[in-house]
Amino acid sequence: MPYADIGNTRLHIRQRGQGPVALFIHGFPLDSTMWLDQLNGLADIRRCIAMDLRGFGRSTPSTGEPLTMEQHAADLAAVLDLVSEEQADIVGLSMGGYVALAFAELYPDRLRSLALIDTRPGADSEEGKAGRDAAAASLLDDGRSAMATSMETGLLGPEPSPAARARLRTMIEGCAYETVVGALAGMRDRPDRTHVLDSITVPTAVIVGEFDSVTPPAEARLMADAIPDSTLTIVPGAGHLTPIEDPAGATDELRSLFSR
Ligand code: MLT
Repeated sequence: MPYADIGNTRLHIRQRGQGPVALFIHGFPLDSTMWLDQLNGLADIRRCIAMDLRGFGRSTPSTGEPLTMEQHAADLAAVLDLVSEEQADIVGLSMGGYVALAFAELYPDRLRSLALIDTRPGADSEEGKAGRDAAAASLLDDGRSAMATSMETGLLGPEPSPAARARLRTMIEGCAYETVVGALAGMRDRPDRTHVLDSITVPTAVIVGEFDSVTPPAEARLMADAIPDSTLTIVPGAGHLTPIEDPAGATDELRSLFSR
C-alpha cells in the first residue's frame, strides 16, 4: 500500500518490516525519505511507516492553504485506521514533533511510545511568526535553491557529511512552493502545547543534536524534564537533523525506545 486515501487527498507512505506499527513524521520542508535509514534499520522489530505529510513529497499537492498540525495529526489517525492499528510508536522530527504533540493531545490512547527529535512544544514568538511570513516572501522572490542555501547552515552541524547535505538539499529543492507557503502558515499559527507534556504517560525519547540551533539542547532538556517517563539523548556532532546526520545513532536510540 504505497498510498493512503483519506477523504479527497492521497498520502504517500513508505513501509518496511513487520510487527507493531511505528509512524515516522518528517520535518519542514522535508519528506519521508529523511527516514530511509531508520526504516531499514528497524524493520526487524516494527512495521515502519514513513508518511509524506499532506502536500509534501509524493502526496497530493496542496493549493497553498495553511497546513495545520491538527490536520496532520488527524491524517496520522486515519492512516492507523487504514492499517487497522489502534496504537503506534510516533516518531517526529521538528515540525513532525509539533504534529506528534498535536497527536498526543488529540489521540492520547493511540500512542504506544513517542520520540521527539530536534523539536519543541512551544508556539512561535511574535518575532518567529513574522519570520515565517518573511520566509514565504523570500522563497517566492528568490526560489528554492536560495532557500536551501540559507537553511543549510542553520539545520546541519558544523561538519556535515556530503551525503547529509545532498539529502537535505534534494528534499528542500523538491518541496512544492505551495506546500512551503502552507506549512509556514500552519507552523506560524500552531498553539503552545507545553501543557500536553506532563500528560504523556507512554515511554518517550527526547533526542537532540549537540549543535541544534533551531531547537537547542537546553530546550530539549526542559521538554524531557516535563514528560514523566522520558529520556534525553544529546547526539554529538549533529545539528537539527539528527536522523540524517547520525543515521545509525538515531536508529539505535529508537531501538532502545521500542524495547522499553
Ligand atoms: C523543521 O525542521 O521542521 C523546522 O525547522 C521547524 C520550524 O521551522 O519550526
